[in-house]
Amino acid sequence: MGYISVAIDGPSGAGKSTVARAAAAKLGYVYVDTGAMYRAIGLAVCRRGISGDDIAGIVATLPTVELAIRYQDGEQHILLCGEDVSEAIRTPEIAKYASQVSAVPEVRAFLLETQRNMAKNGNILMDGRDIGTVILPDAPVKIFLTASDEARAQRRYLELCEKGQQVTFDQVLHDIRQRDLQDSTRAVAPLRQADDAVLLDTSDISLEQSIEAVLRIIRERTEERK
Ligand code: DC
Repeated sequence: MGYISVAIDGPSGAGKSTVARAAAAKLGYVYVDTGAMYRAIGLAVCRRGISGDDIAGIVATLPTVELAIRYQDGEQHILLCGEDVSEAIRTPEIAKYASQVSAVPEVRAFLLETQRNMAKNGNILMDGRDIGTVILPDAPVKIFLTASDEARAQRRYLELCEKGQQVTFDQVLHDIRQRDLQDSTRAVAPLRQADDAVLLDTSDISLEQSIEAVLRIIRERTEERK
């Protein structure tokens, strides 16, 4: 039997990365956060002083982008031209850049093979927006993890406050809605639930319950295959 791929997609702030990371650790799968790759490209664009809506500038940046993924103590680290940018990509500014660059077809094509190849080397749990629909359409387990706008904004707000970032709840809610709109209305690989994905709404359940639910879905789906 080949390796098992689990695709987890959904909008920002649904708890995808926390839930996916915990579930992967429990199962001994490699966790792949594809959003970090878009964020690293966003960071490269930002550092070159290029605006997020300058498509030609974004495309011209790609040949200068060298991405590498490393795992340290089970944690994914992303390297941009040799520099570990795992922390630098976690700001609201870079989140916005990531969303903008992710709408550019050349950027998606640039990352497609890298992401597909990662699924060839072992059992993985990959999270993103188009994993079940575009990157791994044959994944035996697909989950669409979502929550209400307010629940997602509340979680993201607390996360940013904990990191000491100066934000207001309304700002975070506005940014989340803006990103949702951008991610789900773009022409290439928009955020969409795959037809064969299981929908999991985490608005009213705890993090622990979300992780349990994801593990249950994975077990059920992989049992069915045996
Ligand atoms: O999950 P995240 O917030 O780190 O993602 C950052 C941005 O990258 C988000 O706006 C959508 C985009 N993205 C994407 O288009 N496709 C993916 N597979 C993952 C992220």
